[in-house]
Amino acid sequence: MRNYVIKGNICYSRTRKELCIVENGYVVCRDGKSAGVYELLPESYEAFPCYNYENKIVIPGLVDLHVHAPQYPFRGLGMDLELIDWLNTHTFVEEAKYADLDYAGRAYDIFAEDLRNSATTRACVFGTIHADATLLLMEKLENAGITAYVGKVNMDRNSPKCLCEESAERSAGDTQRWLHDSRNFKHVMPILTPRFTPSCTDELLEKLSGLQKRYHLPVQSHLSENLGEIAWVKELCPGTEFYGESYDRYGLFGNSCPAVMAHCVHSGEAETDLMKRRGVFVAHCPESNANLVSGAAPVKLYLERGIRAGLGTDIAAGSSLSIFKAMAAAVQCSKLRWRLYDQSVAPLTVEEVFYLATKGGGEFFGKAGSFEEGYEFDAVVMDDSSIRSPRELRVRERLERLIYLAEDRHIAAKFIGGREIFRER
Ligand code: GUN
Ligand code: FE
Repeated sequence: MRNYVIKGNICYSRTRKELCIVENGYVVCRDGKSAGVYELLPESYEAFPCYNYENKIVIPGLVDLHVHAPQYPFRGLGMDLELIDWLNTHTFVEEAKYADLDYAGRAYDIFAEDLRNSATTRACVFGTIHADATLLLMEKLENAGITAYVGKVNMDRNSPKCLCEESAERSAGDTQRWLHDSRNFKHVMPILTPRFTPSCTDELLEKLSGLQKRYHLPVQSHLSENLGEIAWVKELCPGTEFYGESYDRYGLFGNSCPAVMAHCVHSGEAETDLMKRRGVFVAHCPESNANLVSGAAPVKLYLERGIRAGLGTDIAAGSSLSIFKAMAAAVQCSKLRWRLYDQSVAPLTVEEVFYLATKGGGEFFGKAGSFEEGYEFDAVVMDDSSIRSPRELRVRERLERLIYLAEDRHIAAKFIGGREIFRER
C-alpha cells in the first residue's frame, strides 16, 4: 500500500533556482517517503506496483501555508474594503456562526471536500474561537486525508461580543481543553492561533506562551499586513519597536516555537532581520494582498535573504483555494511591485513560485514538498491533455502553463505521505 512507483514526467524543486524535470521517469514511494527520482527504475524497485502516468505531469503536492476554513462560505464577497473594516463588516459576522455546530458541520463538509479535490496536500488552517467547531473541522480534514495544522483561534479584545472570548483565562482554558481533545488525529495536528495582536491581550499571549512551552506547539498568526493595522499595534503595544516584537516578547516568534506569519507586506528591516534570525516562515498571500489593498509583499527579497517562505490562499481575503492560482498571482504581484514601486527587487520567476508552493511551504511540515530522497511522499498527477493547443509543448512549458491554467479537473491522482487520496477520476 505504501510501496509503489509512479511513472510520468516528474517535476520538483531542489532549491528556489533549481527546478528538476525528469521526462518519462520514475518516482518511488517507500514506506510513505520518497526513495528518489530515476530515469530508469532500479531493479530493487521492480517488484513495487507501478502506476503508469506516462505523459502526465507529476509534482509534489502543493502547500497552503495560510487559509481560514470558516471564511470559505463568503469567498468572493465583500471585496471592497480594507483589512479592519472587512474583518468587522464581513469576517467576524460569518465566524460567529460557528457557535452553531450544525452550521459548522455543513460549512466544513464543503471546505474539506473542496480541499481534498484540490492539488493541496498540506495546509495551515485557521478555525474560529469555537473549540467544538474546530474539532469538527479537524475530524473532517482527517477524513479527507489532508495533512494539516489546524488552530482554534484566540481573541479576547477588540472583537464583537459574539466573537470575543470573555477573558484571557477562558480563552486559554478552552484552548487547553481543545488541545486535549485533539490528541488522537493521525494527520491533523493542533497549532496555536492567536488571531493577531489587536485581538489578543498581553495576558492572553502570556498564557499561550505557557501552553507553547508545555506542549511544544507551533504557532500561526498575522503580521504587518496593513498600514492601519501596524499603527494600531504600535498604539496597543507601547515599548515595542515593530509589530513582530509583540509576538516575540512572549516567545511566539520562531526559534523553539516554529512560527508561520501571514503577509509580512510591510515588515521593515528590523522585523525582517528578526524573522531571519528566528527562522520564522512567511506565508505570502498575493491574492489577499490585492483584494484588501494591503500592498505587495517583497517576497523575492525575503528569498534572497534566506527567509523561509511559502504561499497561502488566505481564504476569504483570497477567493480561490487553488495554490496554482496563488503562484500566478505571486508572479503578477511581484511584477507590479517591481514596475510601480521598487526596481531594485526583481519579479519572482517560475522556478521561485513553484519552489514557494512546494518545498518552501513544505518545510514548515519538516521534509515535505519535494521528491528528493527521504521527503514525505506527497504527489499530484496533472493531466493537461484537455488544455488544447496546436503547439508541441515541452514538459517545462506544460508545467509553466499549468501555473496559470490548472483546475481541479486536471488532477488525475493525489497522494499524501504515501496515502492514496484518489486515483483515476
Ligand atoms: N488579520 C486578522 N484576522 C485576519 C483574517 O481573518 N484575514 C486576514 N487577511 N487578515 C487578518
Ligand atoms: Fe489570514
